[in-house]
Amino acid sequence: MTGAFITLEGGDGSGKSTQAALLGDWLEAQGRTVVRTREPGGTALGVEIRRLVQHTEGHVAPRAEALLYAADRAHHVATLVRPALERGEVVVQDRYLDSSVAYQGAGRELDGQQIRDLSLWAADGLLPHLTLLLDIEPAAGRARMAARADAVYDRLEETGLDFAERVRAAYLGLAQAEPERFAVVDASGTPDEVHASVVSHVRAMLEAR
Ligand code: TMP
Repeated sequence: MTGAFITLEGGDGSGKSTQAALLGDWLEAQGRTVVRTREPGGTALGVEIRRLVQHTEGHVAPRAEALLYAADRAHHVATLVRPALERGEVVVQDRYLDSSVAYQGAGRELDGQQIRDLSLWAADGLLPHLTLLLDIEPAAGRARMAARADAVYDRLEETGLDFAERVRAAYLGLAQAEPERFAVVDASGTPDEVHASVVSHVRAMLEAR
């Protein structure tokens, strides 16, 4: 596999989508072929799963939620991500398996190791070359989301700030456990400031490969 697999992770409102777009543009300006994608919802099946998991009325049992994200991931990796990497392209992806460990493991209080194992099984072992963790205070992230006021925020309203604190702590723990894969980026700055930090990590990863 000759491509590069870069994932962006972080709490809601951390600016992942903005940074993924800026990073994709930067990589293309470097002459790389970029596939921009996300989980959940990077494939046609994934769009259906995203609708089910995020917009189903009422309670979704945590284990059912975990399996829906895993199903999205399995199909996405097999049909889109892995083929792109095999073609030598750069995949810039908004959320991946660390989201499941942080949200379903820590947020929903399932077993984080089991969630990771489930995700790795779904993805047939595929790990990113670089995971950018956009770290932000949950209250600041919530404020950004409130300004956007989109459908995801409705779902998030069901969870309290303590949920977001657990997610953040889990992410930071994951980054500490795998420092060779993770780069923690302070996401509280302006989009340009955060982008500069993102680029420095991506450049270093590409040069080292
Ligand atoms: P986003 O794509 O707008 O960031 O929203 C995705 C939401 O789905 C976000 O609240 C986090 C959640 N999510 C999980 O709970 N587990 C997962 O594995 C993934 C990929 C996302």
